[in-house]
Amino acid sequence: MIDPFGRAITYLRVSVTDRCDLRCVYCMAEEMTFLPKAQLLTLEELDRLCAVFIGLGVRKIRITGGEPLVRRDVMTLFARLGARIGVPNGMGLDELTVTTNGSRLAQHAEALYAAGVRRVNVSLDTLSAERFTAITRRGRIAQTLDGIFAAQAAGLAVKINTVALRGVNEDEFDGLVAWCGEHGFDLCLIETMPMGDIDGDRTDQYLPLSMVRSRLKRRWTLEPTGYRTGGPARYYEVAETGGRIGFITPMTHNFCESCNRVRLTCTGTLFMCLGQEDAADLRGVLRAGASDSELEAAVREAIARKPRGHDFVIDRRDDRPAIGRHMSVTGG
Ligand code: 5AD
Ligand code: SF4
Repeated sequence: MIDPFGRAITYLRVSVTDRCDLRCVYCMAEEMTFLPKAQLLTLEELDRLCAVFIGLGVRKIRITGGEPLVRRDVMTLFARLGARIGVPNGMGLDELTVTTNGSRLAQHAEALYAAGVRRVNVSLDTLSAERFTAITRRGRIAQTLDGIFAAQAAGLAVKINTVALRGVNEDEFDGLVAWCGEHGFDLCLIETMPMGDIDGDRTDQYLPLSMVRSRLKRRWTLEPTGYRTGGPARYYEVAETGGRIGFITPMTHNFCESCNRVRLTCTGTLFMCLGQEDAADLRGVLRAGASDSELEAAVREAIARKPRGHDFVIDRRDDRPAIGRHMSVTGG
């Protein structure tokens, strides 16, 4: 699948639920109304749609949410998709990954590995127990740390995702680089994006990563690398630890040029861009009894509308989100 700007679409991110057991301050409001279950695609429907995308050239699938591991029986989806890894003749996946907050990773790490997952991204914005509970509004850091170490013990490569938050965790990046280096985890810093209502002023939280990177350079030697994981992060090697640090900079740098991904929500809506409203309702097509080739046609038609990029701006005079839906709906 080639979009109108010549980008090959090989990466599908699939949100399997909008629910989460946490309420991170930059992601959700304290009181959230989640979708009724009937609107969600079943795990069978999700698998079928994934198969259609694979048939059209998708080589990497990331399972996200919300928190994907809170969805009941989600391991059956991992097992089914995992069975598609390495299938020859251009009909298989190269990689199946997951983004999780880690709270249930200890229970599921071995099953993920058994399904064929080899890398996991775990969200962790702080190493302080009190801060963790404050940022997530209800989480316990011990549970996430247990999950991280269980994943490592199960043979999964771990990448830590940290959202850079002004005045919240900006004094911790050196500590996170050291900690990740010590344990052999990659670290990825992310700028906050203006998505969804969060009870609070997001412009207060925004911290440009260009600034973070120059501060990190006072303590660490960052060597640019060509390392890519098929996502938007740009990686550096930290000479002192031998570890890698990635930066995802949707706001300060246009990360759209090399965009190879689209996002399927838990209700079967396909978003061609994280930062645009245009979408295609694949659930409607699916539930109208479409054949595989009709589904393929619907996907191709949507890809033909993929926009050049997002229009996120951080506007200090206007604290409404640029995009009304939460990240937990579209999939992080
Ligand atoms: N801006 C940036 N990152 C976000 N995440 C959730 N909401 C936002 C936002 N508005 C992050 C989570 C997780 C990843 C999937 O997305 O912390 O690491
Ligand atoms: Fe849950 Fe992730 Fe959102 Fe935090 S950022 S509330 S862990 S979905």
